[in-house]
Amino acid sequence: MSDRTTEERFHRARKDPELAVLEGFHALKHALRFGAEVLETAIVEPEALGRLVASLAPDLSERLPASDARIVTPQAFARLAPRPPATGVIAIARRRRVSPAEVLSAAGPAPVVLLVRPRHAGNLGAAVRVAAAAEAAGVLALGGRDPWEPDAIRGAAGLQFALPVAGVDVLPPTDRPFVAVDPGGDPPPASGLPARALLAFGTERHGLDETLLSRAEIRVAIPMRKGVSSLNLATAVAVALYAWRRID
Ligand SMILES: C[S@@+](CC[C@H](N)C(=O)[O-])C[C@H]1O[C@@H](n2cnc3c(N)ncnc32)[C@H](O)[C@@H]1O
Repeated sequence: MSDRTTEERFHRARKDPELAVLEGFHALKHALRFGAEVLETAIVEPEALGRLVASLAPDLSERLPASDARIVTPQAFARLAPRPPATGVIAIARRRRVSPAEVLSAAGPAPVVLLVRPRHAGNLGAAVRVAAAAEAAGVLALGGRDPWEPDAIRGAAGLQFALPVAGVDVLPPTDRPFVAVDPGGDPPPASGLPARALLAFGTERHGLDETLLSRAEIRVAIPMRKGVSSLNLATAVAVALYAWRRID
C-alpha cells in the first residue's frame, strides 16, 4: 500500500464521525489500555516505537508490535496530521459511541462533568483527561466542539476511551443535582459536593450564562487570591473533581 493512500485514509478519518485519529504515542497507549479498536497505525521508525513501548508502556509490548504498523517515510508522516506528533506514531481507531442519556444515567456516586460550549479543543481534552484520572462518570460537551476531534484527543492523551464522553446539542432531562462551578459562587459546602452531581463548567471567555446558573441547586466557587479573575477551565475541572474525590 502506498504512502499516498495512507495519507488519504488519515485525512478522511479526521472528518469521519465514526473514527478517532490518535496523534502520538500517548494517545495510542491509552486507547489500547482502555480497549479501543485500533484500525491502523503508521510509524516512521520501528526501533523508535519499540523504545517507546519498552520505556512507557511495557504492558502493551504484545499488543503494539512494530511489525503490525505501517511504515511511512518521514515526508509522508509529516502530511498525516497538521501538527505531526513528535513521537512518530499516529493511528486510527473506532470512536466509542455513547448517548448523552447513557452518560447521565450512569450508576454510582461519581459526578458527570458538563462543559458548556468549550472553545478550545485542548482545554476540552485536558478536562477529559482529568475526568478519566479522577474516575468521573463521564463528560458531556454541550454545544460547539466535538470531544472526539483530533486536537481534543491529543489534549486528553486518548483518554476518551477511558470513560463515556459525548457531545450534545441539548441537555437531556436528568435527576442529577445540578452544580454550577462558577467564580461568582459560594465556598464549597463543608459536607462536600452532592453525590451524582452534574458539575457544570462555563465557556472560557464568558463562563456560565444566567439560564444555567439559575438552574443550579448550588453554585460553588474555587477560592482564589484577590485580583485573580478565574482559573483555566481544565484546571477548574481538576480542582472540583479532586475536591469531590477527597470526600468520597
Ligand atoms: C476561564 S473560566 C471563565 C471565566 C469567566 N470570565 C467567568 O467569570 O466565569 C471557565 C470556567 O472555569 C470554571 N472556573 C474557573 N475559575 C473558577 C473558580 N475560581 N471557581 C469556580 N469555577 C471556576 C468556571 O466553570 C468557568 O465558567
